Amino acid sequence: MSETNALPELPPTRPTSWSVDRLPWDDLRRDTIAADEMLFYMVATASFVEITTDLYTRNLIDHYRDNPPLVDWLVHHWQPEEMQHGVALRRYVKAVWPEFPWPKAYASFLADYATLCNEAALEPTRGGEMAARCIVETGTSSYYTMLRDVSPEPLLRTIAGHIRNDEIGHYKYFYHAFLHYARLEKMPRRQTARALWRRIREANGEDAYVAFRHVHAFHAPDRGRVKEDYRLFRRRLRDALHRHFPFEMAVRMSLKPLDLPPWAERVSTGVLTPVARRFVSS
Ligand SMILES: [Fe+2]
Ligand SMILES: [Fe+2]
Repeated sequence: MSETNALPELPPTRPTSWSVDRLPWDDLRRDTIAADEMLFYMVATASFVEITTDLYTRNLIDHYRDNPPLVDWLVHHWQPEEMQHGVALRRYVKAVWPEFPWPKAYASFLADYATLCNEAALEPTRGGEMAARCIVETGTSSYYTMLRDVSPEPLLRTIAGHIRNDEIGHYKYFYHAFLHYARLEKMPRRQTARALWRRIREANGEDAYVAFRHVHAFHAPDRGRVKEDYRLFRRRLRDALHRHFPFEMAVRMSLKPLDLPPWAERVSTGVLTPVARRFVSS
């Protein structure tokens, strides 16, 4: 195996510790959540994006095709877990909001969303893309931490907790692969910082809006006013973010690939956590 193929010292990959069928579906307390529009949109849009993971996987596999252990992990570990997130959330939507035509709405979303996932969306270097993946997994683990903590419904708290743990596991693997490529490609810290920042800036809600638009079109087909409803949704979400988003955890995870000295990491976390709070909840 050539040096570029080697991805040494990987943490052992544990088997998925939960499954959709073994979730405690009898714990569902539909009455505590069925009327909550914000949670409906949060769960339904997440189910769309998660279940579409195979689109990203194809791009990623191509980017890392000379690294069989990484490709193997993406295909046999990461992708099945992401798909399972989508399947669990889809089943949850069907159980709580059975009137929502999930398959039709998803087909409409997919036709639109597929055009956003293309090779150009990846970082040019493989180390840079691994750093960017750390940001994506930081975003998802923070999102599900918040969903777990904001949900009044016990089964959704359980599902979001499982997904959150998986996303943190993904972060750890991508971070490990990032360290490998950063060494191999001799990435200077400023290049890592640029890759991290680019992906943070890309998290401008475009994916979220595309998913919202298609959920809205089938959830409230006669209402129209999608932009106005999206603004209302964002306003409610901002309040929830303010109270439940794990800002400090997100900042720590985002800074980790920079490998700052401990004092600099402490100072940066202290400065950036309130900045992130203002940025995310503005
Ligand atoms: Fe996921
Ligand atoms: Fe993930």
